[in-house]
Amino acid sequence: MRRVYLDNNATTPVLPEVLEAMSPYFAEHFGNASSIHHHGQETRAAVERARESVAALLVCRPAEIVFTSGGTESDNLAIFGLARPGDHVITSSVEHHAVLNSCKQLEERGIEVTYLPVDGRGLVNPDDLRSAIRPNTKLTTIIMANNETGVLQPVDEIGKICSDADVYFHTDAVQAASKVPINVKEIGCDLLSISGHKIHGPQGVGALYVRKGTTLDPMLYGGSHERSRRAGTENVPGIVGLGKAAEIAMKGFENGETTRMAALRDHLENSILQNVESARVNGEGAPRVPNTSNIFFEYIEGEALIIALDLKGLAVSTGAACSSGAIEPSHVLTAMGLRPDRARASIRFSLGKQNPAEDVEFAIDLVPAQVARLRELSPLYNKVRA
Ligand SMILES: Cc1ncc(COP(=O)(O)O)c(C=O)c1O
Repeated sequence: MRRVYLDNNATTPVLPEVLEAMSPYFAEHFGNASSIHHHGQETRAAVERARESVAALLVCRPAEIVFTSGGTESDNLAIFGLARPGDHVITSSVEHHAVLNSCKQLEERGIEVTYLPVDGRGLVNPDDLRSAIRPNTKLTTIIMANNETGVLQPVDEIGKICSDADVYFHTDAVQAASKVPINVKEIGCDLLSISGHKIHGPQGVGALYVRKGTTLDPMLYGGSHERSRRAGTENVPGIVGLGKAAEIAMKGFENGETTRMAALRDHLENSILQNVESARVNGEGAPRVPNTSNIFFEYIEGEALIIALDLKGLAVSTGAACSSGAIEPSHVLTAMGLRPDRARASIRFSLGKQNPAEDVEFAIDLVPAQVARLRELSPLYNKVRA
């Protein structure tokens, strides 16, 4: 059976060039990057080359990059590295659980957290941020691109407000990296998280940009790896893969890859909306990354549609990978004002670099028919139509 994967916000396949770059670092160049002999120097050099590539993607100094085990650890390091009892932290109601649950944990530790609302498009209002800042506000952490809707927050404006108020600004850019250009200086952030497996690098590796002069308490204690900001022997093959993926991501902005993806996504979205009645894009009217489309299909149970599409060979998702199977409607969509039944009726399509136009045509052929079939079985739909 033909299988088409349009769930790239959950994870992306490792590109062949990335795999090729990584493979010598499993057995041939196996040294511990902290060893001073030849084997260690070889892997140390590879780690530092990767650091340069990641720094180039984010437009920062290589020394400002800390390698981690992924987006979750980067988010945790930024948040727990800064917040202390007595501090106040500001975040939004549409964060990934890596930030949301970290903030809930801060509250358990006696740190007050303000959760900013979003409008119907999923956007934070910068004025709400301005009024939420208090004398003891230490950190604002707001997602750059949402994993469920692809909506891009006005991070430049948020960065300016935070810097004027002398508040640290962290942004989770896990879903923004490789999809939109990132320049940490233009954003004005102090900390920024990325993850390898969302940019066609391997799973289990990520990075945190830490602006020079920002002192973080480490989360792991051990050796003085990563300038004592993250102890533990480096995941050399993973880091090399992340570096290669960062290089490819940069090329994607120059060679029109992101524009190609935006055109495919728009075609997918418009075709579905034209062929399915009572369907709407979540996050419509807001700036979005080029690969994501989150569509709500009235009278449909999202999980049922995902299973129906999977049986026909199309992999999509209801949103956050970790919440698949949960009965709770998406906190992101409900924060945007969607009724719980409509949030549950929403499906995320997310494209990757490996998807040719034929994959989108496959989805366009399949989705309207499967929605129609499920609606025929829906008592509510039949009642409304009667
Ligand atoms: C916005 C966002 N932040 C953080 C993460 C966590 O990243 P990782 O899977 O590398 O821990 C994800 C993964 O889904 C994400 O989409």
